[in-house]
Amino acid sequence: MSIHKESAKRVTTHVLSEMKLKGEKISMLTSYDYSMALIVDRAGVDVILVGDSASNVMAGHETTLPITLDQMIYHGASVVKAVQRALVVVDLPFGTYQGNSKEALNSSIRIMKEASADAVKLEGGREVLESVNRILSAGIPVMGHLGLTPQSIHKFGTYAVRAKEDEEAEKLVEDAKLLEEAGCFAIVLEKIPATLAAKVAQSVAIPIIGIGAGGGVDGQVLVIHDMLGITQEFSPRFLRRYHNLFAEIQGAVETYIGDVKSRDFPNEREQY
Ligand code: KIV
Repeated sequence: MSIHKESAKRVTTHVLSEMKLKGEKISMLTSYDYSMALIVDRAGVDVILVGDSASNVMAGHETTLPITLDQMIYHGASVVKAVQRALVVVDLPFGTYQGNSKEALNSSIRIMKEASADAVKLEGGREVLESVNRILSAGIPVMGHLGLTPQSIHKFGTYAVRAKEDEEAEKLVEDAKLLEEAGCFAIVLEKIPATLAAKVAQSVAIPIIGIGAGGGVDGQVLVIHDMLGITQEFSPRFLRRYHNLFAEIQGAVETYIGDVKSRDFPNEREQY
């Protein structure tokens, strides 16, 4: 006997490929904790990414490199507890899959077992193909990530737009095809020219999810802290802010402090 959450309502990798076939755009956002994932899932997002951007927005690191596998599993497990519908993808952090396919498989198995994720995501093309194949051989769905790959920031030296030159653009298209042939169910394309991203989306049958990759792809992803305006200093051209939560939360906290200092809080009805 198997016990499973109501599968008919859940987004699966199969649902995502059907969405691409039908031309229905895929919505994806990051979440790193139970409370935010609950809101994001109930709003109806298709995919929740437990991104290694947690390293930046949750832990305050400058890059995504320091976050550990244990920390990603902690964030992943917290998110999975809240989710009823969305597909939950957890990032494999830096150093847990590059150059050693056995370690890649072990890291992915830990994410699937300990966080109960639906899939893993990793950065890179042909350089990580052996790892991709090994993870897939265990029946674990893999999402690729090409273009600006933040785990390689020390190699790039900058977060500028990638693949503007022909050579890098050609490699990116080839890498997308290699990831598709290997069996990846989708690919994130980050910060590349919109025309190139659209070309990739037309060249492969699997969904292409863009961030800073224009509208010609199959779906969009943003970091939740950026789109809600919790982060202030990060303002790339591709980012649309749907709120200014930093100011709203700061205002609420300032009001609370004022109420405490003035003895307005708690009042008669707020005590026992
Ligand atoms: O870690 C992350 O949030 C990501 C997105 C930017 C796609 O990989």
